Amino acid sequence: MKRVQYDRYGGPEKMYFGECDMPEVGDNEVRVSVKAAAINPFDWKLRRGAMKLITGRRFPKGMGTDFAGIVEATGSNVGSVSVGDEVFGTVDFKKSGAFGEAVVVEASHTAKKPPQLSFAEAASLPIAAMTAWVAIIDRAQARPGARIFINGCCGAVGAFAVQLALARGAQVAGACGSASRESARTAGVAPVFGYSNAQAYTRQGTYDAVFDTLGTLDVGHGFSMLNPRGVFVDINPTPTRLLRGMLSRRYKLAFATMGIRHLHEIAALAGSGTLRPAIGLEAPFTDALAVIADAETGRRSSGKTVLAF
Ligand SMILES: NC(=O)c1ccc[n+]([C@@H]2O[C@H](COP(=O)([O-])OP(=O)(O)OC[C@H]3O[C@@H](n4cnc5c(N)ncnc54)[C@H](OP(=O)(O)O)[C@@H]3O)[C@@H](O)[C@H]2O)c1
Repeated sequence: MKRVQYDRYGGPEKMYFGECDMPEVGDNEVRVSVKAAAINPFDWKLRRGAMKLITGRRFPKGMGTDFAGIVEATGSNVGSVSVGDEVFGTVDFKKSGAFGEAVVVEASHTAKKPPQLSFAEAASLPIAAMTAWVAIIDRAQARPGARIFINGCCGAVGAFAVQLALARGAQVAGACGSASRESARTAGVAPVFGYSNAQAYTRQGTYDAVFDTLGTLDVGHGFSMLNPRGVFVDINPTPTRLLRGMLSRRYKLAFATMGIRHLHEIAALAGSGTLRPAIGLEAPFTDALAVIADAETGRRSSGKTVLAF
């Protein structure tokens, strides 16, 4: 089977189309014929070796985590899905390999695709929506009347965070680039600030939560925007940010992996239209190398980039 893989950690030049044998389907696993796979920044961070202490030195490694497709085999313990079901899900990052014609994945990392969604839309949900869920619902505890500030409110994670916070009755302010201002307003963000206008949103004062989706907001600055019980939620920890943040119990980390238990709720919200994936570009799998490299270097259309098989 054909997939995008690499033999060494590094930049886009390390990716190539390779052939690999399909792994056996374990008792708790399913094999899915991939119809669409969405590109996340995490995919190229993994390929660059950002998690190499965990992902190790066995090569070749497949790329890609988020996918949607049709179940073609199930393990003996799997009861949640059957052969022929349309599903979406995310592969454990230690294995990856969703940018391929088929993928073997834990059944618990899949959910049935809402019929209202295309394969591309469903594939664009898992990592971004799970991260937004953990940040906004588990960490920020969005509730009616809560004031939440989202830095990077128009990225994949940011846009789902806005939708979840508003659905919970919170008021959402945020910052984004100038090209995204109008879509932020349309999504219900008010007020909308530019990144360069940090002093303006600091003065907005007492937020119940500040969610930095980009890792570009100074942590001290973020804390100054909070009320005394407010929390700062980070999804891009660096040693410096961790050190600064860990001095406070109100600094909270959120990771996509913590959100896997919410995958079925995410499917239900997407099916009802509360979560609305935005596809920027749907490209054929044969263009994968160029499309991933473009997304990585910032040359892309606004919204998720998805590979179609
Ligand atoms: N901790 C975790 O488990 C976890 C999970 C998911 C993501 N993350 C990290 O969180 C960060 C955000 O992830 P994401 O998936 O939301 O990223 P994304 O969709 O690429 O969005 C990031 C930002 O890129 C800008 N952007 C959007 N479209 C663009 C375009 N066409 N060209 C150039 N820039 C564009 C947007 O800012 P403006 O429109 O405002 O310019 C957006 O806020 C990444 O660093 C990712 O690695 C961490």
